Amino acid sequence: MRTVVALGGNALLKRGEPMTAERQRANVRTAAPALAAVARSHELVLAHGNGPQVGLLALQAAAYTEVEPYPLDVLGAQTQGMIGYFLEQELGNQLGGDVPFAMLLTMIEVDPADPAFDDPTKFVGPVYTKEQADDLAKLRAWTFKADGEHWRRVVPSPEPVRIFEIRPIRGLLDHGVIVICAGGGGVPVMFDPASEHTLVGVEAVIDKDLASQLLARDVSADLLVLATDVDGVYTGWGTPQKKRLSRVTPQELRELSFAAGSMGPKVEAVARFVEATGKRAAIGALDHIEPIVEGTAGTQVVAG
Ligand SMILES: Nc1ncnc2c1ncn2[C@@H]1O[C@H](COP(=O)(O)OP(=O)(O)OP(=O)(O)O)[C@@H](O)[C@H]1O
Ligand SMILES: [Mg+2]
Repeated sequence: MRTVVALGGNALLKRGEPMTAERQRANVRTAAPALAAVARSHELVLAHGNGPQVGLLALQAAAYTEVEPYPLDVLGAQTQGMIGYFLEQELGNQLGGDVPFAMLLTMIEVDPADPAFDDPTKFVGPVYTKEQADDLAKLRAWTFKADGEHWRRVVPSPEPVRIFEIRPIRGLLDHGVIVICAGGGGVPVMFDPASEHTLVGVEAVIDKDLASQLLARDVSADLLVLATDVDGVYTGWGTPQKKRLSRVTPQELRELSFAAGSMGPKVEAVARFVEATGKRAAIGALDHIEPIVEGTAGTQVVAG
């Protein structure tokens, strides 16, 4: 069964943990045996988030003012390399030397006319006071919004349109290679509006759940799993009546509403995949990845 597993950023760095390399490696090492078990029984494509890692790079950049901060596409490329390296090495240690792996730097096209560019919504980087935010807004032409009592930079989150490396990704899968790709939702790129054939990076963040469902469709996956830190999709989340959905259809999910920055994009992603393919998708805890793949844990999403 061709399976795409997307790991949440918090699979590598849990909220509140020190953001050290050792911590990230230790978290990947904890997850590796179960992921290796999936890889032994199925064709595996791994995608992953990069929110905490990009946040760290932005904090480090803010501390060293001799050079301009690197743009978000470059940070995306950096984190794909770092996280892909941890995954490839720790999974490789579990699987032994003869299983072939490849980590592919992945660029995803976005549309310059995407309405997301008119309304940046995604918080990135450190918190600032109102005065600092105003100064940076002038200096760098960044947009800021209030996040609680602080101010933070916001960037657009456009729709993923096309995965540039999709042919090599498919080719590798057809040859039995485990592929790690589309990290952090892919590096956002577009064709330069001034020159049709020239790709340029974009100051944006593509939602990794939406990118993962595009990837899953493009590789003709049989299963899409969004692995996170909660054991499924709940109704009444945050209330004493909360209840996990164990088996639902996209239609049933679409009649409910979910938190915009967290469960919302996951539900949208699995609904799109199942609607487009008629195949199965699931959302659940990374700790339960094996039963989720087998269809007995998490929230299983199937065509109606
Ligand atoms: N209805 C809901 N059911 C379950 N969890 C929910 C719900 N609404 C919000 N959540 C929150 O969604 C979170 C998972 O989404 P989140 O975007 O934080 O993680 P992720 O996508 O795995 O990681 P990242 O975004 O850092 O890559 C859970 O930790 C939970 O707190
Ligand atoms: Mg998320």
